[in-house]
Amino acid sequence: MIFSANKLLLFGATGDLSQRMLLPSLCALASDGLLPDNIDIIGTARSEYTDESFCNFAAEALAKFLPAGRKVDIDGFLSKLRYQDLDASTPEGFDTLAKCAGPIGTQENEGLSIFLSTAPSLFEPTIKGLAANGLATGNVRIGLEKPLGVDLASSCQINDAVASAFSEDRIFRIDHYLGKETVQNLLALRFANIMFEPLWNAAHIDHVQITVAETVGLESRVGYYDGSGALRDMVQNHILQLLALVAMEPPTSFDATAVRDEKVKVLRALRPIQPNETVTGQYRAGAINGEAVPGYDEELGRDSETETFVALKAHIDNWRWKGVPFYMRTGKRLPERTTEIIVKFRDVPFSIFEDRGAKTLPNTLVIGIQPRENIRLSLMAKVPGLDRGGIRLRQVPLDIAMPDAFAGPERRIAYERLLLDLVEGDQTLFVRRDEVEAQWNWIDGIRETWDEANITPKTYTAGSWGPSAAIALAERDGVTWHE
Ligand code: BG6
Repeated sequence: MIFSANKLLLFGATGDLSQRMLLPSLCALASDGLLPDNIDIIGTARSEYTDESFCNFAAEALAKFLPAGRKVDIDGFLSKLRYQDLDASTPEGFDTLAKCAGPIGTQENEGLSIFLSTAPSLFEPTIKGLAANGLATGNVRIGLEKPLGVDLASSCQINDAVASAFSEDRIFRIDHYLGKETVQNLLALRFANIMFEPLWNAAHIDHVQITVAETVGLESRVGYYDGSGALRDMVQNHILQLLALVAMEPPTSFDATAVRDEKVKVLRALRPIQPNETVTGQYRAGAINGEAVPGYDEELGRDSETETFVALKAHIDNWRWKGVPFYMRTGKRLPERTTEIIVKFRDVPFSIFEDRGAKTLPNTLVIGIQPRENIRLSLMAKVPGLDRGGIRLRQVPLDIAMPDAFAGPERRIAYERLLLDLVEGDQTLFVRRDEVEAQWNWIDGIRETWDEANITPKTYTAGSWGPSAAIALAERDGVTWHE
């Protein structure tokens, strides 16, 4: 039964994600009346807070991290919060947590949504503790924050542990990129317009680029990031989800099964990466926006072979995309924070203007995910004027800035969408087990290629677009990364 939960149990409630994203998102949802009025939000973590001190903690987080200008009812939200401390690594304490959560209702507007935002090593003991204390049956669903493992084997282990207590239709694996408006807009762009789909294939598209660039460095995530690296931190999840949305076949409906069925086909069709199709990098000291920043090993305090940058040239072996390269890159300490998808179309098959000295350029569609939220289509147009015996052509942009097109609606944090769907039980924007496993399978292959071909990170200066080899990776094919 699809139910709307009236209880939310937040593991990792005192963690970084909770402060930055979860508490602000829940506060915004509650203030807008989007959560059930009677919702009970129970935070749990190791720290010994009382209900009252947790509310103070939450109030501080909201003061720091709620988007500026967002109108919320902080007191109303805080009145919904409770706290129960728990060391999830041991079975003790789950009985107290179950008592604190109280009975789980059975009606359509009753139930428990659980969100695990903890270290993945705690997933298994947490699931066991929940299951042993009646917190996994009936109207209960569970959301899992990444990382879901470090490779296919560890991901399967986590998935098995979760599956031992929850059926797949009650498991909500988060990829917060799917909660971004502009990412969802990809589906609207492709499937709510007639004009793109007939051209969306190898016959008309030359190549696709996906860039997810960040200016931040290691931040305070030393323990996690160095064991992960850019490939597992960003490509395995966010970039592959973007790729799947760009490349999938039209689903038969906008529902969880139909959308995820199509995404997984794309992920399974990814061809294993060859050594000459991958470049990795690690940043050295440099400057971002004019400010000096240290190198990765200085931030870490030791030498490391972890990549902070990856560029890949991928192929999707299916009818639609045969022969179309997908260039993807992501990195920390790049010159700007930008996520965009570039679809480069082929040139016109024959130009009637060529013998008049005018050159046509291929159309390019740029889908700005962040921070610029826009759709920009470059078109060829005639330059006004009386050009004797000729014609001059120039590329001009058709540019739609989403904030201008939709000035009214509030800009939502990605987690607002996802937490609301977790409470209401809509899995469309969550990642299914077979997707995650197909993603890891491909990523494991890349790591094996790196090991076999002895590919280690090349250095790049913080504030640059990664190692020069990444530029060469595209230029070898006559392609320039879009900047
Ligand atoms: C997270 C990664 O999943 O996504 C971080 O672990 C990264 O390393 C972050 O900084 C980027 O998210 P966004 O929404 O800022 O692009």
